[in-house]
Amino acid sequence: MRWAAVLMLVAAQGVLAGAFPGAALAEVPFTAAERTAILLHGPWPLKARPDPSNRLSGNGAAIAYGRRLFFTRALSRERRQSCASCHAPARAFTDGRAVGQGRVALDRNSPALFNLRHNRWFGWAGQTDSLWAQSIRPILDRRELALTPALLARRVTLDKGLSHGYRQVFGARPGAHTPKQVLVNVAKALAAYQETLTTGKTPFDRFRDALARNDPAGMAAYPAAAKRGLKIFVGRGRCAVCHFGPNFTNGEFHNIGIVHFVGHGKDQRVDPGRYGGVRSLRRNPYTLLGRWSDDPKRSTAGFTRRVTLHPRNWGEFRVPSLREAARTAPYMHNGSLKTLEDVVRHYSAIPEGRLHQGRGRLLKPLNLSKREIADLVAFLKTLAVR
Ligand code: HEC
Ligand code: HEC
Repeated sequence: MRWAAVLMLVAAQGVLAGAFPGAALAEVPFTAAERTAILLHGPWPLKARPDPSNRLSGNGAAIAYGRRLFFTRALSRERRQSCASCHAPARAFTDGRAVGQGRVALDRNSPALFNLRHNRWFGWAGQTDSLWAQSIRPILDRRELALTPALLARRVTLDKGLSHGYRQVFGARPGAHTPKQVLVNVAKALAAYQETLTTGKTPFDRFRDALARNDPAGMAAYPAAAKRGLKIFVGRGRCAVCHFGPNFTNGEFHNIGIVHFVGHGKDQRVDPGRYGGVRSLRRNPYTLLGRWSDDPKRSTAGFTRRVTLHPRNWGEFRVPSLREAARTAPYMHNGSLKTLEDVVRHYSAIPEGRLHQGRGRLLKPLNLSKREIADLVAFLKTLAVR
């Protein structure tokens, strides 16, 4: 059986390569430079090492406990919400809303929770520098789950399942720890669980791998429209400058001209984006430099140590990964764009006057034709597993 399959594959390649040289590429030829640029978006999945700042990273019992914490409503003041209310597994760990809905409407879009081990910063403004610190935020935020460390410790003690799990993972009753310790422990278990939410190979990855091994049959399986869109993505669209590498993000912050007013009527104000993110990071006791990190060497704290507050950061937001984007509408930090087509249209007619771009002028209106817009969307859709 296996030999037969191999022979058929060899035959198919022979036919393609012999009868129509370069058949797979004839329709959409890639230059050497494009090939190099495309290969940079893989291989996928990336290897991920455990997080040294979280001693529970990769720990099976902690992952199971973290999963339980993620889905329990005991972590919300009125017992009405859980993490999964805004990050629902059936919706690619988002909520399908423009902005999150907690006890009140939030200012920002609930992001998907995939491949988080590769993030350097967390949240749209990078207000935290670790997954466990980011997991503390919604627990304490008065607009979200709205607990205090003391109230959380009481909830974990009173809930049979949660207190039993706590003892199993931490070897002590929650009451034996200070409320802040309980808070950090709970957040680290939540982080251990969220690290397991990874995504597999997509049609794009299979194309990229085929390109890497010069396999015309493998390359031919990738739709022509996606190939044309990919050419724009790594070429004149300059998308890959920011949506860089295997996870399609350079991990940093940019302003792409999304209107960033939040609130309504008299309460309307500007979302400061990364500027506010840096300020809030500096005030936060839960960072990679603080006493709650489990890594005595602070080996992953370099970015946090070097971060500076710069007026340029005003209105900048984190470059999101584009993996699974087809499943995470609506888009942008404020959920203001409903479809991938709307996103591409935004880049096509980008309001340059609204951007304060420094050197380079990365973003210019692309003036894409209807077909080019459809091609770019077709490409973006191949970054999703299904
Ligand atoms: C009421 C809705 C809501 C709830 C409940 C909620 N989140 Fe979120 N989550 C959001 C929003 C909105 C953001 C973006 C926040 C920002 O950037 O300001 C976010 C961001 C995140 C991020 C950052 C992801 C990234 O790519 O940087 C993580 C991780 C996360 N949430 C985990 C959790 C966990 C764990 C819980 C439960 C303890 C939780 N969330 C509860 C709405 C919610
Ligand atoms: C200068 C850097 C930069 C360039 C170039 C760039 N992007 Fe983005 N992209 C971002 C940032 C930053 C955001 C989030 C902005 C926000 O929420 O305000 C974003 C958001 C997106 C989103 C929404 C993702 C989500 O989950 O909400 C998509 C899709 C996207 N970009 C695709 C593209 C495409 C296609 C191109 C090329 C035409 C491109 N980007 C070029 C920085 C960039």
